[in-house]
Amino acid sequence: MKIVSIVGARPQFIKEALIGKKLEEFGIEEVLVHSGQHYDFNMSDIFFKILEIKNPKYNLGVGSGTHAEQTGKIMMEFEKILIDEKPDLVLVYGDTNTTLAGALTAAKLKIPVAHVEAGLRQEPKDMPEEINRVLTDRISHFKFCPSLKAIENLKAEGIRDGVYFTGDVMLDVFIKIKEKTDMKSVLDKYDLKPQKYVLSTIHRDFNTDVKERLESILKGLSKVSERMDVILPLHPRTKKRISEFDLFKFTKNIKIIDPVGYDESVALTCNAFRVVTDSGGLQKEAYFAKVPGVVMMKDTGWIELIESRWNILVDADDEMIYEGVFNHPLPEEMDNIYGDGNASEKIVEIIKEKL
Ligand code: UD1
Ligand code: UDP
Repeated sequence: MKIVSIVGARPQFIKEALIGKKLEEFGIEEVLVHSGQHYDFNMSDIFFKILEIKNPKYNLGVGSGTHAEQTGKIMMEFEKILIDEKPDLVLVYGDTNTTLAGALTAAKLKIPVAHVEAGLRQEPKDMPEEINRVLTDRISHFKFCPSLKAIENLKAEGIRDGVYFTGDVMLDVFIKIKEKTDMKSVLDKYDLKPQKYVLSTIHRDFNTDVKERLESILKGLSKVSERMDVILPLHPRTKKRISEFDLFKFTKNIKIIDPVGYDESVALTCNAFRVVTDSGGLQKEAYFAKVPGVVMMKDTGWIELIESRWNILVDADDEMIYEGVFNHPLPEEMDNIYGDGNASEKIVEIIKEKL
């Protein structure tokens, strides 16, 4: 059996990390393709190094661009590879342009698609990630769901076949890296004390590309930084916009650093007082680390974290960001809603058995 996996953006490297190793363990050949959507060292290579992911056999080198440019270029290049490699299955991860382009190319060639992290849904329906998720689920043969809510979402759309609850592959990776990482040396590197700082990330287009929203978020973080250190590993998209909108004046008190590797991200998350983010991955990792999360969105695909108050939604409101950090409601305990850390193995077992 031969599988082609396609990755391209930061969270996809993390999701691939253990699946790749499990496929090898189960004796399944995997050809890894990197679309090139993310290409800076700190957005790409660093993850391959830290997570010991094998080198991709192909890098499509598509780089940045509009949605159509990125999706179209990936499809054109990926199609050639699929015709050449003739896999039995194409694996796609998450909700990026790389995900949709990979799934669509394979489906049109009548190659079955497996979607890891299927079934997530959120408002607004026109956000690029939501479009990518809905369409990818529609054309995937296997839908591997990280939560029971994801299965319910698919059912509500009439999708029942090929749906599996596996748990979340990101939990598997989080547990592994947490065990291996020397937390103290990471905190020392950034001159931080456990529980005495807030970790923040910002990268959603609806937050970065609208000046008023980005300004409000930075004002909120800046106010927080009057009481507690705030560390902000800055996504390149956000850095560009802060500069274009001339907003660096609101960041004087904030410790801005380059994007960090996954080991540092886990260490910074586990020791934070609060995590303030618009990242789908990081809001969940805050929960894995039992750190309350303040989510700068109107809605989230990880709605169970809102219902249990591990995360609260504050949109881009500066006052609510501040309140969310210092007056977070008490969260309630939950069962293993994202599985038991064996999602990667379950996914590979299902593929082996059913394909
Ligand atoms: C993409 C995904 C998003 C995911 C995020 C993870 C889509 C539509 N969005 O958003 O779902 O949450 O990745 O981080 O696929 N840039 C660099 N260097 C890089 C990568 C990007 O400078 O290595 C800059 C470029 O100016 C680029 C911008 O960041 O235009 C946005 O990059 P892009 O990959 O289009 O979207 P993300 O915001 O990263
Ligand atoms: N992350 C990282 N370094 C950073 C910021 C985030 O390793 O500087 C990790 C984070 O721990 C999480 C993942 O990247 O696992 C989330 O990716 P991102 O926020 O880019 O995308 P999303 O999850 O929102 O799709």
